[in-house]
Amino acid sequence: MYRSFTYDAILASSQRAAWRIEDVIPEGAALDFGRPFLPEALARTAAAPGLSADARQVLNHIRAHEYLGMFELVEEFILPFILDHVRADLSLDDNRTRALLQFAGEEAKHIQLFKRFHHAFVRDFGSNCAMIGPSEAISAEVLRHHPLGIALFILQLEWMTQAHYLDSIRDDTDLDPLMKSLLRHHWMEEAQHARLDTLMVEAMAEALPPEEIARAFDEYLEIVAFVDAGLGTQAKLNLEALARATGRSVSEFDRNDLRAQQHQSSRWTFLGSGMAHANFQATLARISPSARAKLDRIAPLYR
Ligand SMILES: [Fe+2]
Ligand SMILES: [Fe+2]
Repeated sequence: MYRSFTYDAILASSQRAAWRIEDVIPEGAALDFGRPFLPEALARTAAAPGLSADARQVLNHIRAHEYLGMFELVEEFILPFILDHVRADLSLDDNRTRALLQFAGEEAKHIQLFKRFHHAFVRDFGSNCAMIGPSEAISAEVLRHHPLGIALFILQLEWMTQAHYLDSIRDDTDLDPLMKSLLRHHWMEEAQHARLDTLMVEAMAEALPPEEIARAFDEYLEIVAFVDAGLGTQAKLNLEALARATGRSVSEFDRNDLRAQQHQSSRWTFLGSGMAHANFQATLARISPSARAKLDRIAPLYR
């Protein structure tokens, strides 16, 4: 596997995989609200307690709104982080510079793509859905951590997108085709980001003593806890959106532990599915066997 983890190989694959936003969501395209937008493995809305079939479908759409919003949020701190990383060593390797700039350019494109989908969602959903934020404050909080801790969190996110598509989206024939196309195109470019992040994490760790790597891992865990708290707030906002969209009261949903069930689902979608990825775990084991062992003790909370 690691033979393909070189800057020139990654640059070549990113040039082959590249697409335009217009190819994914043409101007005026609409989501089909008669279909689910996210697979059950990520939304867990078919298993949501106390809901009618119609309400489960609406909640699935609200969770897709969360998915779009969460990716807008995370891509907004990934972009400056990658630009800082490439700028620090511009003369090191021309392929490295080009591959990382391509990475940054793709994340800027993904932010636009997620916004375009968000706009199509808001236009046709019919009632208001809120997102945690503001994104600037979330970015600032994440980016104040140890660079290796941030890089590990980003590595987890990139492998997570690979797992989402391959494990639960590619073979799902019920999903709205436009949403499925978004997730497929994102997967295509994120495959290169995951490899670049692996190189980035390894280069950073090489220069650090084991105690500092352990400290950086603890800071990664702080970012995980911070994002998890945000997902808890988001679960509350999602139930309020569900109440608005279905004309019912939030307290009716809360009686059935729906909020806790949905928070756990978001934990798996945005945190646990990345932690469980074999390639994330392998990189962590290479830079710090003790951090890898610690991950095993924490990961079950995010299943
Ligand atoms: Fe992305
Ligand atoms: Fe990415």
